[in-house]
Amino acid sequence: MAYIVWCNIAIFLSASLVLADNAAVLDALNHAPDHRIKNQPYRTGYHFQPPKNWMNGPMIYKGVYHLFYQWYPNGAVMEVTEIVWGHATSTDLINWTPHSPAIKPSRPSDINGCWSGSVTILSNGKPVILYTGNDRNNHQVQNLAKPKNLTDPYLRHWTKAPENPLVTPNAFNHINSTAFRDPTTAWLGRNGRWRVITGSQEGRRGLAILHTSRDFINWKQSTKPLHYSDGTGMWECPDFFPVARYDSHGLDTSSFSGSMKHVLKVSLLDTSHDHYTLGTYDRVRDLYVPDDGFVQDDTAPRYDYGKFYASKTFYDSVSRRRILWGWVNESSPEKDNIKKGWAGLQAIPRKVWLGESGRRLVQWPVKEIETLRTTQVKWENKVLEGEGSVIDVHGVTASQADVEVLFKVSGFEKADVIEPDWTDPQLICSQKDASSVKSGLGPFGLMVLASKNLEEYTSVYLRIFKARQNSKDHVVVMCSDQSRSSLERGNDKTTYGAFLDISPYQPISLRTLIDNSIVESFGGKGKACITSRVYPKLARGERTHLFVFNNGSQNVDVLNLNAWSMKSSL
Ligand SMILES: *[C@@H]1O[C@H](CO)[C@@H](O)[C@H](O)[C@H]1NC(C)=O
Ligand SMILES: *[C@@H]1O[C@H](CO)[C@@H](O)[C@H](O)[C@H]1NC(C)=O
Ligand SMILES: *[C@@H]1O[C@H](CO)[C@@H](O)[C@H](O)[C@H]1NC(C)=O
Ligand SMILES: *[C@@H]1O[C@H](CO)[C@@H](O)[C@H](O)[C@H]1NC(C)=O
Repeated sequence: MAYIVWCNIAIFLSASLVLADNAAVLDALNHAPDHRIKNQPYRTGYHFQPPKNWMNGPMIYKGVYHLFYQWYPNGAVMEVTEIVWGHATSTDLINWTPHSPAIKPSRPSDINGCWSGSVTILSNGKPVILYTGNDRNNHQVQNLAKPKNLTDPYLRHWTKAPENPLVTPNAFNHINSTAFRDPTTAWLGRNGRWRVITGSQEGRRGLAILHTSRDFINWKQSTKPLHYSDGTGMWECPDFFPVARYDSHGLDTSSFSGSMKHVLKVSLLDTSHDHYTLGTYDRVRDLYVPDDGFVQDDTAPRYDYGKFYASKTFYDSVSRRRILWGWVNESSPEKDNIKKGWAGLQAIPRKVWLGESGRRLVQWPVKEIETLRTTQVKWENKVLEGEGSVIDVHGVTASQADVEVLFKVSGFEKADVIEPDWTDPQLICSQKDASSVKSGLGPFGLMVLASKNLEEYTSVYLRIFKARQNSKDHVVVMCSDQSRSSLERGNDKTTYGAFLDISPYQPISLRTLIDNSIVESFGGKGKACITSRVYPKLARGERTHLFVFNNGSQNVDVLNLNAWSMKSSL
């Protein structure tokens, strides 16, 4: 059992939604509900948005999910020295009840900020938080907090350990005092000692420093880091957990057997991307060894090929699944965020497990999200004629929807041959007019958050290439193109792309969660994910449309399409 806090370094400015019905907490958080914010078009309906500023982490204890997030209580632009642990609870991961902050700067060991960390459930079943404090000298140190009252179902109050700080950087232990943060959920290793890793940097080397402890208070640094990689820069928010080899059940962070694999995820500060590798945890030497072909750097696979950073997983012991949370930043300039009064949100929590190939993780929105579905539109066996069909999906609230399509492609000999130097999917998707070129197979897919006359739209689509001339091997590329997403200038409209490791001879699934200003897409039943943030000026509220399109020369069949309007969560 383990709870986690995420590491999300998010920026949350101001608010309403989540907290609007809880006047006491609003008072406690010192900001009244702001109706201007409530009626804003880009506020999401069913994604978690804290009241203000930044964000941080989750767990489950006695059937209640806890979300702790990095929260900046005092204004529009993030100030790292004043960060607290915001706190909300839920019984379904969808509807959240706000609480006052769980941890606030108050001691010399955290007076300049209570930064990210994680929750661990100890052997006696009690949760504890390990978190990074930015101390009075602006050095990063590790601290412990425990629930004050374990019979409080919401664990609203936390007590800091008198022994804090438990681990400090110094010349003797060679830890960089401004690069030592984000302790993971601890796991029990060989000889019954707890292990925890913390992200760090030595020159250009990124590393996961390992500490061990018997009592969770006295920690000893291992002579070697769990893992490191040169040239990667700072590793933030490391996450280290086991996955089952042959089924999709989650595993407790401390479980170990020869038949499982381990995942090491790090958030690369230099690129703001979360990369993971799969490998083996050597319990005897306390080292992590990535499988052949994986290097813990920016060549490693990503959870999400769009905007998604500082993510963390936790083991949901009730539903026996591992759940991934990621923070999604804005794409708008900071001045717009200040004007909106808020920034950043959480991606929908995703179940994560090891795919059949054993080489990639698979992610899928938690099933609880389906309780928000209302009106449904259903199609079966519709042909998307080649060369420009665009069909309106009538009948759902296109600004807030869940849509899943199953495409069947044929005419593989008509696929274009991929250029040998097209090794970066984002570049393939970003080529000029990539979605309008009439190639053989694709582009086909969805146009979401679209205005009626297509002045604005975000296209999420697939293209299929032959690996080589006369080859029967194909390459599937998934794109999310924001270049036409808004008439507004100034936003980051980067187009994202990912290779999709599937056989195009089988039906291809594409699911997209649309929520006013966020578009979260899952290709091949979760084998590749792309999240983007867009701010349409026309395609808002009831004026929003959802289309299916095919710009390839070959017809593509929609075997089925299911789209649902989504209610807002609480
Ligand atoms: C602990 O929490 C329970 C449940 O909310 C409450 O009844 C009890 O009074 C609390 N105990 C203390 C010492 O605050
Ligand atoms: C320590 O970390 C900082 C980032 O906070 C980095 O700029 C610096 O290069 C690191 N110093 C050493 C000696 O690795
Ligand atoms: C988040 O996006 C804003 C622009 O909206 C940018 O200024 C900021 O640097 C980003 N923060 C991180 C941590 O990526
Ligand atoms: C499809 O092609 C047409 C004509 O080339 C173009 O105007 C349109 O934007 C393309 N559709 C998408 C989704 O890019």
